[in-house]
Amino acid sequence: MRIGLAYNEKPDATPASDAYAEWDDPSTIDAVGQALGRFGTVVRLEADELFPQKLSLARPDIVFNMAEGLHGPCRESHVPALCEYLQIPYTGSDPLTLALTLHKGRTKEILAYRGVPTAPFRVIERIEDLERLPLPFPLFVKPVAEGSGKGIFVNNLCETPAQLAERVPFLLERYTQPVLVETYLPGPEFTVAILGNNGDVRCLPLVGFDFATLPPGAPPVYGYEAKWIWDTREHPLAIFQCPPSGVADSLCRETERVALDAYRALGCRDWCRIDVRVDRFGVPNVVELNPLPGIIPDPAMNSCFPKAARVAGYTYDGLIQEVVRTAWRRITGRDVGAQDAASVHAPTAISA
Ligand SMILES: Nc1ncnc2c1ncn2[C@@H]1O[C@H](COP(=O)(O)OP(=O)(O)O)[C@@H](O)[C@H]1O
Ligand SMILES: [Mg+2]
Repeated sequence: MRIGLAYNEKPDATPASDAYAEWDDPSTIDAVGQALGRFGTVVRLEADELFPQKLSLARPDIVFNMAEGLHGPCRESHVPALCEYLQIPYTGSDPLTLALTLHKGRTKEILAYRGVPTAPFRVIERIEDLERLPLPFPLFVKPVAEGSGKGIFVNNLCETPAQLAERVPFLLERYTQPVLVETYLPGPEFTVAILGNNGDVRCLPLVGFDFATLPPGAPPVYGYEAKWIWDTREHPLAIFQCPPSGVADSLCRETERVALDAYRALGCRDWCRIDVRVDRFGVPNVVELNPLPGIIPDPAMNSCFPKAARVAGYTYDGLIQEVVRTAWRRITGRDVGAQDAASVHAPTAISA
């Protein structure tokens, strides 16, 4: 079988901004490619401006999609949309789910409608929208459609109207998109790695956050500083606990339940990592969904999906292969078998 690998690679000289925070390092892309080699020939398809041509010439049997996308608020849905256009199967969620989950406000509307706990919120498009905001402090603010800690800084936790009035215009201007203002959730935080479809959806062991590992005085927020400044290859931030220690079993089960409800509410497929945080009443609330979860291979680096998978007994390659198997089963109704591995296509004239 020929398997396409759709990805966006971080540029060499990473600028001092968070512009490419979502894109993957060459080492991650190589590791995924190696794991996919188990199924046959891997065709690397960088999701750049020539991606549509490369995909239509290569026509792999399935695309492993880890591309975060190039442009605009629907960027994560472009690769799956092109695959659908060309009727090429792909792993993971469809364009609708990927576009919706990138927009945290739209996601929360769906969660709220479906009765999945999520913090009360407003989407602020203009600074005047802050007048008569019906939400009590403290509040948490963030760009409505970013990921990987982009635009989430320690001072996004606003205790006062003055802080809010400073922070919101800054984010509106810097990220040129609406700002999500929501009730601050002061309780413990978890992230839930989920695998599967339909009747067979399961949570991997919960990952908990130990905020005591952040520098003294830092608020308990896993934002840009924690992800990209305080956590380095030389000094990894030991913030994750999998499974979390000292957490009541009932809270763990309830956290898994809201994560699974969110997975279904947004129509996720194959896999997704869901962030959950406990409100002041002790109820786990869904913060956001990551249907293209980070998958850094190095166990020393903080990458939650591979971490949870390791605790569940998967190797890194085993996890990547499980995603392909899960997708293949969903698409064809059967397991990846010998006949699939044998269906090698004639080589195409271009190198994609
Ligand atoms: N409403 C909230 N209350 C408390 N903390 C929050 C809230 N929203 C986000 N955070 C903190 O900010 C972090 C990043 O927010 P998140 O929406 O998950 O952004 P990203 O897409 O960058 O992961 C969360 O992991 C959590 O620590
Ligand atoms: Mg998150």
